[in-house]
Amino acid sequence: MNFKEELKAKTLQIEKILERYLPAEEGYHKVVAQAMNYSITAGGKRLRPMLMMESAALFCGEGELPGRPDSIKALPMFMAALEMIHNYSLVHDDLPAMDNDEYRRGRKTTHVVYGEGMAVLAGDGLLNYAFETAAGAFGTAVTEEDYRRIAASMQILGRKAGIYGMIGGQCADLEAEKMGEEVTEEMLLYIHEHKTAALIQAAMMIGAVLAGAGQQDIDKMEKSAYNIGIAFQIQDDILDVTGSLEVLGKQVGSDAKNHKLTYVAMHGLDESGRQVKELSEEAVQILASVPRRNPFLEELVEQLIYREK
Ligand code: IPE
Ligand code: IPE
Ligand code: MG
Ligand code: MG
Ligand code: MG
Repeated sequence: MNFKEELKAKTLQIEKILERYLPAEEGYHKVVAQAMNYSITAGGKRLRPMLMMESAALFCGEGELPGRPDSIKALPMFMAALEMIHNYSLVHDDLPAMDNDEYRRGRKTTHVVYGEGMAVLAGDGLLNYAFETAAGAFGTAVTEEDYRRIAASMQILGRKAGIYGMIGGQCADLEAEKMGEEVTEEMLLYIHEHKTAALIQAAMMIGAVLAGAGQQDIDKMEKSAYNIGIAFQIQDDILDVTGSLEVLGKQVGSDAKNHKLTYVAMHGLDESGRQVKELSEEAVQILASVPRRNPFLEELVEQLIYREK
């Protein structure tokens, strides 16, 4: 299988995992469950669960290999949980009170279809469902070490999604809208690190933790994911200028419309592109410095440099 085929097969595998954890659309809460599923089943790259799965494979291989720790059984639940949190962040990010965008993944975004109130609830619902799903992982634990790894993963998920992570970044992102040219490079980096890199760090750190990696290697995953995340957001900002609704699945020009000072606005398209490449190459170097190699993961990070959606 070449990289493209492998990527497709793995994305399909992730879609199947996500399906297992969708809420049932029934009862008086039916509409909110529908809105949650509308967001989750809309496709998307599934990058975060993929990075989690591949980071785990980096430390303990794939499939039914002998010697894989029991804590790896918790992986699907954490993959689903992280994608739920990512989707909640997108539902809220698109709301009129935030970026006020109408398209996501090639279709109308959640609040356009279900109304703003229901979109707020769908985001809240996804966030809570994420932790309910992740907590289910304790049911797979056999040894004390498994419990410890699952608890550590829950803590990473909470921190990287919360005020010291994604929410913190979204907070600064909103504040920066009012500041115009006063936004410093340092603040812009804080925004990228927290609103975007934090969930990517959660993905790669949790994958490593559940696979039994030691602290030194978990730290390396955090550092590599920092680079991947910053590069990912710079590329997102580039595509907001150079992309199209057809390819990107979301309306372009959103950042300019909201007076966001982006890396592109600060440094121009060429320098931004160079940064994406440099940060990604450094991320791959860090990945190559842990005891095992995962060629698919390295290729994935390299391919992100050239992504068009
Ligand atoms: C979009 O994330 C939000 C950012 C952090 C830039 P993705 O580009 O991963 O969105 P999907 O999940 O593929 O739609
Ligand atoms: C969003 O950044 C990051 C999130 C935490 C959702 P953007 O606002 O640039 O993401 P898009 O372009 O709407 O996907
Ligand atoms: Mg935003
Ligand atoms: Mg947005
Ligand atoms: Mg964007």
